[in-house]
Amino acid sequence: MRVLVIGGGGREHAIVDACARHGHEVLCTPGNPGIAAQARIIAGPQDADSLAELAVQEGVDVVIVGPEAYLAAGVVDACRARAVPAFGSTRAASRLEGDKAWSKAFMNRYGIPTAQHRAFSGLQDALTYAATCSLPTVIKDAGLRAGKGVTIAHSYAEAEAALQDIFTQPGAQAVIEDFMTGQEVSMLALTDGQRYALTPPSQDHKTIFEGDVGPMTGGMGVICPFPLPDEALAVIRSDIIERTLAGMRSEGLPYTGVLYAGLMLTPAGPKVVEFNARFGDPEAEAVLPLLTSDLAQHALDAARGELNPAAVQFGAAASAVVILAAPGYPGEPQKGIPLTLPPTGVGETIYHAGTALQDGQLISSGGRVLAVTATAETLSAALGRAYALADRIGFEGAQCRRDIGSRIGAVPESAPDSTPV
Ligand code: GLY
Repeated sequence: MRVLVIGGGGREHAIVDACARHGHEVLCTPGNPGIAAQARIIAGPQDADSLAELAVQEGVDVVIVGPEAYLAAGVVDACRARAVPAFGSTRAASRLEGDKAWSKAFMNRYGIPTAQHRAFSGLQDALTYAATCSLPTVIKDAGLRAGKGVTIAHSYAEAEAALQDIFTQPGAQAVIEDFMTGQEVSMLALTDGQRYALTPPSQDHKTIFEGDVGPMTGGMGVICPFPLPDEALAVIRSDIIERTLAGMRSEGLPYTGVLYAGLMLTPAGPKVVEFNARFGDPEAEAVLPLLTSDLAQHALDAARGELNPAAVQFGAAASAVVILAAPGYPGEPQKGIPLTLPPTGVGETIYHAGTALQDGQLISSGGRVLAVTATAETLSAALGRAYALADRIGFEGAQCRRDIGSRIGAVPESAPDSTPV
């Protein structure tokens, strides 16, 4: 099969890797230097019509769209208008991620468990309401902010600053919601709108600093699988995933692609923190290495409305992702730092997230630079191998959380000597 992957971060590197290891010919735009080892990189315009035309010209069998911005720009719609199968949500359905005020109202309409909230389109009303909330309170930008539009405000001054920041943008909306306690879990469902297959549950670590403090990032590390109790899984299936897919069909917005439910396992059961319309990043880098079946085939089946959930298979192993981020991230990241990557062993992958080539030298070019992934028979072993590999990279000023997995008590095992491949 010829597959076109759209995007150029760690998630897309993991998608390309999953397709390439099943022998597919993979094209990617805009890609990155890591992806270039496994796919033909195509430069060019990134608007929806140009990308759909590219898919036609290249005669691809299926397009897989990574980042949310491309979904919101209508890449899937543009492909479908040209009869090119595309795996992802339509522009209208991606509102589930792109408009958090709409998404929360949708959850309330269909009885999908989530935190109490209020939405605001003006700063003054939002400030007045925030001043009445108990702390901590959660302030969200209703629009897309690359995973960084959420503030958990522990003081009213922090809530005010977050709201001021949101309302500097024209047409902004803010959502203020109750803070939920519990373990956070990411559940991804591949879906054709009707049928779905869940990936193993995973857990991201979203703040920049250890101990879950500091500003939010796109995600600093992931463990997979998260040990989810059966009762919670049953509720997630029936009350969250199935109600969402049914609700989207009722709204006339059948949801296809990846439904990412960001969940909190509260004392009252699992509740939705947010929906995303795509693979998580770095969840994809943890989940996809465990996929033993063929992602490109599932994507094509789902795009045709023919997903076979039983065919979606994962190995029994565990995986861990440790992010190496540039100094300055999640603020202004330092770019241009030289990177030297060591050889990797079996079950180890260094996914490129924010890298570029300059005069033949690999350099950092974004906030999250590398997603260092390892799989192993146990989570502790996977963590041990991921940290050992990350320590062999260790570029100047790299930020790396050392506590990935600690929320569930997973401790990195010392890594065995690995065999370079
Ligand atoms: N890892 C969080 C996200 O993809 O939004």
